[in-house]
Amino acid sequence: MARIVISAPLPGGATEALEAAGHEVVVGASRYGMGRAGLLESLRAAPDTQALITLLSDPVDREVIGAAPRLRVVANYAVGVDNLDLEELRRKAIVVTNTPGVLTEATADLSFALMLDACRRVSEGDRLVRRGGWHGWSPTLLLGKRIHGATLGIIGFGRIGQAVARRAAGFDMQVLYHQRHRADRAVEQALHATWVSLDDLLERSDIVSLHCPLTPETRGLLSEGRLRRMKKGAVLVNAGRGPCVDEHALAELLAAGHLFAAGLDVYANEPRVHGSLLGLESVVLAPHLGSADEPTRAKMARMCVESVLAVLAGREPEYRVA
Ligand code: GLV
Ligand code: GLV
Repeated sequence: MARIVISAPLPGGATEALEAAGHEVVVGASRYGMGRAGLLESLRAAPDTQALITLLSDPVDREVIGAAPRLRVVANYAVGVDNLDLEELRRKAIVVTNTPGVLTEATADLSFALMLDACRRVSEGDRLVRRGGWHGWSPTLLLGKRIHGATLGIIGFGRIGQAVARRAAGFDMQVLYHQRHRADRAVEQALHATWVSLDDLLERSDIVSLHCPLTPETRGLLSEGRLRRMKKGAVLVNAGRGPCVDEHALAELLAAGHLFAAGLDVYANEPRVHGSLLGLESVVLAPHLGSADEPTRAKMARMCVESVLAVLAGREPEYRVA
C-alpha cells in the first residue's frame, strides 16, 4: 500500500480505482488544485507519499520535490509538462508521466471554436444581445473576417497542430506551418500543409494559431516585433501556452486595430488575465478549456491512474516523459 496525493478531484473514478488497488488516496479539496503551497503542506504532513497526480497549475519545483523524499512518480494531468522541474525529478530518479494523444482532438476542436468565434464575433454578439443592444438585422452589424478559404498559419506542428490542419481542410483553408523540424513529406502532403519560416508565416497568414509547447525557445516567441509582422486585420488564436505571447503587445496591436481579433485559452499568469485584454471587445477569453470535453478529461484521469499503478508495481509506465 502506498500513499498517493491527487491535487484536485478528477473525473472518471480515479480515486476509486487507486483505492481499489489498495492504496491510500488523499485528494485536494479545491477543483483548482492544491497549488504550490497546498502541495507543500500536504507533502510535509505526509512525507511518505510515493505518488503525486498534479495539474498544470501546480508548480512541482525543488522544494515540493524535497518535501516528499519517498516520491516515485509524478503523473501530470496534462500533456504539457512545463509546470514540472524535470531536471530535478530526473536527478532524483522520480518517474514523470503525462497524457499525450488523448487530448489532441479536443484541443484542436477548442482552437477552432476560438478561431470561429474571434473571426465571426459570436461572443461579442452574445454580449450585445444580453445587454439589450440588438435592435434588428443590419447590413453592417458585427461584420467579421472570412474563415472559408483563408490562409491559416500553424505554429507548432505536433499532434495538435496537425489536428487543426485536418479541420482546416473542411474550410478550404490554405495551411502554412512552422516548427524547427520540418514534418515528414507524407504528413505535409496528406494535410496540404506548407512549411515556411516563422516570419513568412506571420506575414502571410490571415489567422495564426499557436500549438507549440512552452520551452525556453518558445517563451516570448510572439514578441511585439513578431506580432507586428502579422498582416493588418489578422487574427491570433492561442490554445497552447500563454507565455509564448507578449500579452501587452497583443492588447496594444488589437486596440490600435492592427490585429482584428484574438481567441485565447491560455495566459501568461493564469488565472490572471492581462487587464488590457479584459477591456477589449475583440478578444475571446476562454478559461483554459482546451482538453475540457467529458470523455477526454475522464481518459486523462485513467492514464494518470495507470501510470501511478504501473510505477508503484515496478512496471514501466506507457506515457513516460522522464
Ligand atoms: C493543457 O494545457 C495540457 O497541457 O494538457
Ligand atoms: C500534443 O499531444 C502535441 O504533441 O501536440
